[in-house]
Amino acid sequence: MPNKRIVLSSDHAALALRARIAEHVETLGWESVDIGPTTSESTHYPIHGAAAAERVASGDCRFGIILCGTGQGIMMAANKITGIRCGVCSEAFSARMIRQHNDANMLSIGARVVGEDLALDIVTAFLSAAFEGGRHQTRVGMIE
Ligand code: RB5
Repeated sequence: MPNKRIVLSSDHAALALRARIAEHVETLGWESVDIGPTTSESTHYPIHGAAAAERVASGDCRFGIILCGTGQGIMMAANKITGIRCGVCSEAFSARMIRQHNDANMLSIGARVVGEDLALDIVTAFLSAAFEGGRHQTRVGMIE
């Protein structure tokens, strides 16, 4: 049985978009595991990036989708966790390529950078693409 769980988290800048993405991944056949935060009170993105990354690194969730204002800070925090390969994407091409070539297991999106429709396209591209292996596996191994 493949792991179809996707962990979602964000800081206060991305609550509404995170909720919309949670619905979207369910329509694509994935289970969303939303670990908050649940209020729009100002919070610290490293906490939430690391918490989501731990869910992926442990194998509890297959992928993670994280958001902050730019997507950058929370991505940096997630990438500190061993085994995490997370990229920030503002268009679908990069979202597809980080799966195909980099075997990314987390996607970060800037809620103050992209609109809702584009964000959903980015998520669809990420979840629809598969890692190509081969020479890319060698390079991913070098990252690890
Ligand atoms: C919060 O104001 C903002 O700094 C945060 O959401 C994010 O953009 C950081 O990278």
